[in-house]
Amino acid sequence: MKSFFVTGGAGFIGSEFVRVALKSYENLKIVDFDALTYAGNLENLRGLDDARHIFVKGDICDKQAVLDAMPEGVDAVFNFAAESHVDRSIESANEFVETNVLGTQILLDCARERGAGRFVQISTDEVMGTLPERDDAFFTEDSPIAPNSPYAASKAAAEQFVRAARETFGIDTVVTRCGNNYGFRQFPEKLIPLMISNALNDEPLPLYGDGRNVRDWIFVTDHCEAILEVYEKGSSGETYNIGARNPLRNIEVVSGILDHLGKPHSLIKPVEDRLGHDRRYAIDPTRIETELGWKARIGWEEGLAKTIEWYVSNEDWIASVKSGEYQEFYERYYSHRIAQ
Ligand code: NAD
Ligand code: TYD
Repeated sequence: MKSFFVTGGAGFIGSEFVRVALKSYENLKIVDFDALTYAGNLENLRGLDDARHIFVKGDICDKQAVLDAMPEGVDAVFNFAAESHVDRSIESANEFVETNVLGTQILLDCARERGAGRFVQISTDEVMGTLPERDDAFFTEDSPIAPNSPYAASKAAAEQFVRAARETFGIDTVVTRCGNNYGFRQFPEKLIPLMISNALNDEPLPLYGDGRNVRDWIFVTDHCEAILEVYEKGSSGETYNIGARNPLRNIEVVSGILDHLGKPHSLIKPVEDRLGHDRRYAIDPTRIETELGWKARIGWEEGLAKTIEWYVSNEDWIASVKSGEYQEFYERYYSHRIAQ
């Protein structure tokens, strides 16, 4: 029987990853370890087989809790757990340092103590900062590390601890750097679900700055399948960029959502720009495509349509995750911007 220890598996990408992994391996047991912060939700795990997927509520900064939950000789640790929203990191970076940096270091120690076979760190293209505004500029695995937001800085620091654990203790590690994910169960603080949700309610769509910033979008299932490829075939100590060759300006994304829903573009509300807003992300995925034989399967039009349909059919899910803490964040962060 294969065993995985997955952190952050009640979040957007982690909850898709556990589904993809359980489908990929018949003889797999997953311990899904998640603190259930505002972004984690047990609803995201509904329908999973309890015999093969064991959920444990816990914080990756709590070493004893991690050791208690991590099986001896676990085949792999997949670290998805993170504070993940750039705007929140601009308001307060402390939680980002704690979970993303200290939490990763604690997990590395636990993986070593439990003799884990491989440690897979889920990182982001944002550690490489911003690209110049040219269509032929791309991130490769050799791009310099140059994070610009506190979120990106914490993810970059985490990568350095992963590297150090390999060099110092010989842990088998791989790092993946993916672009912007979209798909089912993404928390509505992020661009695509926020815009879908506001459009459905005929509320303003807050577009930062001139709306021409570029993000490279990938459907979440493609990202999760790529992570499994890297786990299986990636070379120890290496980093793999993951992307679907789909860089788009924010205004194109938002317009596409409105067109799909048959809503007027007058709902778009330009608001003050994000501080330190990275201009362009675009990934060159040549390495994972040629060395590991992985390629994204879901095109943008298909992925966006499926995503919008999911949110339209799951308004209860949106309503439940938007209640409580998120409501306060939205008021605090957006009300004065939209009113201006
Ligand atoms: P998310 O915010 O939806 O989920 C994060 C999950 O981690 C939540 O379930 C939360 O409860 C859990 N968590 C937070 N702090 C924890 C702690 N201290 N201990 C245990 N669990 C904790 O994030 P996501 O979008 O699913 O991102 C998952 C990972 O992928 C992150 O590491 C992120 O940096 C990385 N990533 C995300 C994207 C993207 O577009 N969303 C792109 C590239 C990489
Ligand atoms: P986001 O989903 O927060 O992801 P990231 O900052 O990690 O790339 O934002 C994606 C893009 O959308 C980014 O350029 C910022 C922009 N954006 C807006 O214009 N308005 C918003 O309300 C949000 C949340 C993001």
